[in-house]
Amino acid sequence: MNVLVVYDSLTGNTERVAQSINDDLKGKGAECTLSKVRDAGDLSGYDLIFVGTPVHARSPTRAVRKLVSSKELKGKNVAVFDTYAAFAGELVLDKMQGVLEKTGASVVGRKSIKGRPNEDYLNEYGSWASDILSASMK
Ligand SMILES: Cc1cc2nc3c(=O)[nH]c(=O)nc-3n(C[C@H](O)[C@H](O)[C@H](O)COP(=O)(O)O)c2cc1C
Repeated sequence: MNVLVVYDSLTGNTERVAQSINDDLKGKGAECTLSKVRDAGDLSGYDLIFVGTPVHARSPTRAVRKLVSSKELKGKNVAVFDTYAAFAGELVLDKMQGVLEKTGASVVGRKSIKGRPNEDYLNEYGSWASDILSASMK
């Protein structure tokens, strides 16, 4: 199972979540690649893709909006997550899910937690991602 964790991050919160997910999934035996959205390159070799974004003005970042509308995601299993300070966490997941489904991807998970990443916060994302990986390997 080839897994990609791809993210955008301006101030480091989403990056910390993405790194933590990547570490947790590696511990579960997945072949896992961590990448900033601008460095993601060819997506064709991945079976499961986690896409993370900060909430910016009630939307995913421009780079993530571009990624989720990519034709390369057609037929792929994609899980979406975001980090946010106050509002629109679920709205941003709705926006990503809507675009992905139009693109022909399957959204297999979504997670949004408000605030700055502490240990509990990171553990919550990690167990969410691990559950998705286990379900995908069945
Ligand atoms: C330009 C900008 C716009 C933002 N807009 C929102 C917003 O609409 N809702 C919200 O709850 N937080 C908003 N935030 C806060 C970020 O979503 C939050 O701090 C997030 O965890 C940052 O992730 P990052 O550290 O990975 O960049 C905004 C931050 C910036 C810099």
